[in-house]
Amino acid sequence: MTPKNKVDILIVGAGPTGLVLALSLLKQGISPSSIRIIDKYATTISTSRALATQARTLELYRSFNLTDELLSHGHKVPAVNLWMRGKHQARLSQSEAGKELTPYPFMFVLAQDKHERILEKALNEHGAFVERGVELVDFEDQDSHISARLLRRNGPNNNTDGHGTEDSYNEETDTEICETAYLVGCDGAHSAVRHGMKVNFEGAPYKQLFYVADIETDSHGQSPIINGEVHVTFKGANLVIFFPYDDKHRCGRLIGMLDPRKTDNEDNNPAADREYSFDDDVAPSVRDILDLNVVKVNWFSAYRVHHRVADQFRTGRVFLAGDAAHIHSPVGGQGMNTGVGDTINLAWKLASALKGHTDSTGDERLFDSYNIERRAFALQLVHTTDRVFTFATAEGLIADIIRNWIVPTVVPSLFAFQGVREFMFRTVSQTRINYRNSPLAEEPRGTDPVQSGDRLPWVVISSNKPEEGRDDNYDTFNAVKWQVHVYGTPTESLRQWCGRKKIDLDVFDWDEKYTASGLGRDTVYLLRPDQYLAVVAPSGPGAAEEATERLDRYLLEKGLNL
Ligand SMILES: Cc1cc2nc3c(=O)[nH]c(=O)nc-3n(C[C@H](O)[C@H](O)[C@H](O)COP(=O)(O)OP(=O)(O)OC[C@H]3O[C@@H](n4cnc5c(N)ncnc54)[C@H](O)[C@@H]3O)c2cc1C
Ligand SMILES: *[C@@H]1O[C@H](CO)[C@@H](O)[C@H](O)[C@H]1NC(C)=O
Ligand SMILES: *[C@@H]1O[C@H](CO)[C@@H](O)[C@H](O)[C@H]1NC(C)=O
Repeated sequence: MTPKNKVDILIVGAGPTGLVLALSLLKQGISPSSIRIIDKYATTISTSRALATQARTLELYRSFNLTDELLSHGHKVPAVNLWMRGKHQARLSQSEAGKELTPYPFMFVLAQDKHERILEKALNEHGAFVERGVELVDFEDQDSHISARLLRRNGPNNNTDGHGTEDSYNEETDTEICETAYLVGCDGAHSAVRHGMKVNFEGAPYKQLFYVADIETDSHGQSPIINGEVHVTFKGANLVIFFPYDDKHRCGRLIGMLDPRKTDNEDNNPAADREYSFDDDVAPSVRDILDLNVVKVNWFSAYRVHHRVADQFRTGRVFLAGDAAHIHSPVGGQGMNTGVGDTINLAWKLASALKGHTDSTGDERLFDSYNIERRAFALQLVHTTDRVFTFATAEGLIADIIRNWIVPTVVPSLFAFQGVREFMFRTVSQTRINYRNSPLAEEPRGTDPVQSGDRLPWVVISSNKPEEGRDDNYDTFNAVKWQVHVYGTPTESLRQWCGRKKIDLDVFDWDEKYTASGLGRDTVYLLRPDQYLAVVAPSGPGAAEEATERLDRYLLEKGLNL
């Protein structure tokens, strides 16, 4: 196949972030021939890395019909436990905390390489393929397009681990120029796209070095840790987190920190980090803190983590997403999910521009909204993980007193409140994210619980219409598309409006119980293709104006042309 040297979208990097972007574009009818997705590695990476798929990601994957497929390959973690100095302090049941909030009230554990394989298989089924061994070297913004210089590494210049060598290539035969309307950097923490954009990546490295270890134990039935749940354990400034991997509960992932005194490897020099070994540096503290007997280590990696957020996620025709745009502590399991959330947000905006669903101001507003919506979330996330992490690992007497005496008394009583449990669950599961402050949101409407920019509240449908086969109101998220929901009775003019615009109208019989979730009877909810609310328009008697006028005004103001 000859490489396409003129495309609409060039995606650099085929990690979860890039794969989801490509998939979402195809799901919106963008042709495989108008996109390219490249990755500099000649082979797929086969290490587990990020494990947690959060509830919001599972919700968003419904538009790709991937949620059930994903769920069939991993392990649902129902609760997180907190231990201090060997004593069990608290258990946060996610199935309790989240059961009214989402169809996925658990933390879902699936190794990143398996997750990526599922994404890539779906991509291939849509006729698109990752070009491996192709690296973006640099690019130039030519105003009307971007010209990107690519280097093909999958010739003979390929070292043994399948990751192309740095220097042994032929400038003339191995490079090509690809012209693209848009360039998206999903190329990870050391992003070449970000370097080319010349935006700052503000932040700092953590002084600790993290390790991750995939282990097998023989203490089934003995250690209370091996019960299919997550365990967060503290001892002094030492923190170890255990994630169960499978239903047999014998395999798991340990995340923790290495002795900071040994780590002065600020430049992330892989050679220095390789000096650590599981047996010498981790096993003793794991035995001490967790009382866990590790019989096999399948993967061990030490790595330095930074907390950083790019100044801009967009300049002109160039975008950043995923680790290329933000990095932070892996504690909390947010990294991969945030990358996926980025490109689900970006994909429909790029697709709208390509399909001509915007006027000239619309493109700009949509692209800016990507930067505003996702950068705000990344900043908040980095601050939160940073605060939690800094506290958890702070050294000194005061920190010890708080951790060992205050937290154990306060946390369990806090967790006794359903409100607190829900707040924690919403935060970690990313279901709390909203875009109320976006240029795409309407003016805020008083204290209404559900506003433009919000995630649509999830409700179980009590409906009496089995022929529709709907269990919940997220069942309509079966494609990446605009849609309208009404809980109650839609007006005739709304039906006509949706017909004219070819937007699906989904009507749910009203049930008083929906008010508890903040949904309004007969209110018209216009949903963006990424499942967030664009317009919330009260309808019926007493409404200030016809909902369709409101919808038309919204689209006009935002430069959208559906
Ligand atoms: C050892 C390790 C352990 C981790 N553990 C956890 C964890 O426990 N929990 C958690 O949430 N997160 C963890 N992470 C982070 C998580 O893996 C990332 O957040 C996630 O992979 C981000 O996805 P991404 O697609 O944005 O970037 P990446 O997965 O980094 O993918 C970027 C891709 O771009 C390619 N690329 C880079 N430069 C170029 C170029 N110039 N041209 C072409 N291709 C290029 C790379 O080959 C790579 O495949 C871990 C990461 C590592 C390395
Ligand atoms: C959705 O995916 C499942 C596999 O998880 C498959 O059986 C089903 O046919 C798919 N549905 C559609 C509409 O593609
Ligand atoms: C690169 O080398 C590895 C190891 O020899 C090999 O398995 C792989 O197929 C090569 N990749 C390409 C694209 O030639």
